[in-house]
Amino acid sequence: MRDKWSSKLGFILAAAGSAVGLGNLWKFPYSASTNGGGAFVAIYIAFLIIIGCPLMLAGITLGRKTQLSVFGAYKSINKNWSFVGTLGVICGFFILAFYSTVGGWVLYYLKNALLGGLNITDPNVLGEIFNNLMNSPIELILYQFIFMALTVSIVLKGISGGIEKASKVMMPALFIMLIIVAIRSLTLEGSIEGLKFLFMPDFSKINMEVIINALGQMFFSLSVGMGTMVTYGSYLDKKENILNTGVIVPALDTAVALIAGIAIIPAVFALGFEATEGPGLMFITLPAVFASMPMGNIFNIAFFLLVVFASLTSSISMLEVAVSYFVDEKQKSRVPSTLIIGLVIFALGIPASLSMGIWQDVGILGNLGFFDVYDKLTSNILLPTGAFLLCIFTGWVLKTEEAIKEIESSGVKFKLANIWSILIKYVVPVGVLIILINSYIDFFVSIF
Ligand code: PFF
Repeated sequence: MRDKWSSKLGFILAAAGSAVGLGNLWKFPYSASTNGGGAFVAIYIAFLIIIGCPLMLAGITLGRKTQLSVFGAYKSINKNWSFVGTLGVICGFFILAFYSTVGGWVLYYLKNALLGGLNITDPNVLGEIFNNLMNSPIELILYQFIFMALTVSIVLKGISGGIEKASKVMMPALFIMLIIVAIRSLTLEGSIEGLKFLFMPDFSKINMEVIINALGQMFFSLSVGMGTMVTYGSYLDKKENILNTGVIVPALDTAVALIAGIAIIPAVFALGFEATEGPGLMFITLPAVFASMPMGNIFNIAFFLLVVFASLTSSISMLEVAVSYFVDEKQKSRVPSTLIIGLVIFALGIPASLSMGIWQDVGILGNLGFFDVYDKLTSNILLPTGAFLLCIFTGWVLKTEEAIKEIESSGVKFKLANIWSILIKYVVPVGVLIILINSYIDFFVSIF
């Protein structure tokens, strides 16, 4: 018997858990601040409504309809399309390879916070701590290994007993901790400047690069484009209403991204730090920000613990895409499949970990090192390509009429069915294709 979610709430928390992750807590705040603040946020939200929500629903519907892994889902409807499933599985390997690198850093920071080692207000000293970590291969690989081991230990236990149980504990805890940190940040004097920066769009800042980054960020953050939602949807019972999940999951994901922005940017402004720090924002600036507040270490601990929870509920979803392929399609058992795939991804991730330090000068494509290649290849190329193909598939191969039948099969009426159909058949593919062509050009230019 194929495993199933034990309740719809369990599915929602797991799907939101997949969506909410380093993309929201680490990437979104620095992407927003380095891409023009409010203007980026405005484009992001527009993309979310027009492209993200329709695609999320399409993915969950395809999974629920076929009750198969992403490869099987495409194949069962049209054999020629099974390659999209393969693409998703490959994408999962590469995302998790670099995701586990950052997951390892977060575990290391949590350990440091617990031992009081982050109680430092000078960003220069924190910068040194970060650089030292980047140049300590043993530590990097060790923490990456621990992160992968935690991910594997959850996926080993299956859907209802592993992924669902873990999400039910970690997601509510994450929400509570994030809200506490956000309230603390907003009550600091001077935080209003940070809010203005985040929410007042200056549309002169918008250019093609900001648009590509906002779209890539949206796909990454929602976990659409590699079959995660197809896979999770496939464990949903036929009696569940899936219509509202296409809105609830993106809404939760965006709420967390915005609250993370509110927790981080105003505090950075209030305490006189630079918000445009880039990827170092979470590891260099933020600990200094927390350490400058009364009882700051508690906030450092709460923050890094919540980031660990958020990244684990995402990493398990990436691993599950690959594991379900081997379990459903190749009739392998879950435990050995999970262990072997986990090990392969860990191995693939080692060069990504090293590429930020001792392998800094190793460019595998042009100047780009392993970490950047994995990141750009997945976020800017594979995910948007997978999303584009999911859209064409749902609109023209499965056909939206069939998808709508599946959505309405639990007895709900899909009032916006016509609009959804037009979005999926025409608007989303054309929009994504235009941006995708630009990202291909961008990617190849950065290589050569
Ligand atoms: N959505 C996750 C995040 O924002 O961190 C990352 C992710 C998970 C991307 C699962 C893709 C995926 F399939």
